[in-house]
Amino acid sequence: MKISEILDKNGRTPDKLISSLLEYQNSTLCNYLTEDDLREFAEETGIPLSRISSVASFYSLLSTESRGKYIIQVCYDVPCYVNNSVNIVEELEKNLGIKMGQTTEDELFTLEFSSCLGCCDKAPVMQIGENLYGNLTRDKIISILDSYRRKNNEQ
Ligand code: FES
Repeated sequence: MKISEILDKNGRTPDKLISSLLEYQNSTLCNYLTEDDLREFAEETGIPLSRISSVASFYSLLSTESRGKYIIQVCYDVPCYVNNSVNIVEELEKNLGIKMGQTTEDELFTLEFSSCLGCCDKAPVMQIGENLYGNLTRDKIISILDSYRRKNNEQ
């Protein structure tokens, strides 16, 4: 989808900026916003490029670097941390063969840390796209990753 189409639909006011940036980012193949994209948003909305760039680097769901098809965000705030999110990170890194902040060679998965995802009662928690997964264990991680691999193979 084109940036102008998204803005036509959502509106060009500053309060619609984050949702429009996110919608556009999610429609791109590599899940990130290029410098040219940010410039186009600035031209289309009249919002200064510096402000748009700060928004894109501040919000954890937005990225200005190439990322995988599925972004795995692991909550590392205190309630998740004390409920062993360290083990979750270890299992993800082992299963995917990458470290936090990296993308798998096949560009399927990217691992990122996140602040609180809003469901601390289910700690430890991670999010993939818009799906939240709680009460995570090593076994659950393995089956979740397998389900995304299968889903990708079926597409
Ligand atoms: Fe992890 Fe709130 S601290 S979801």
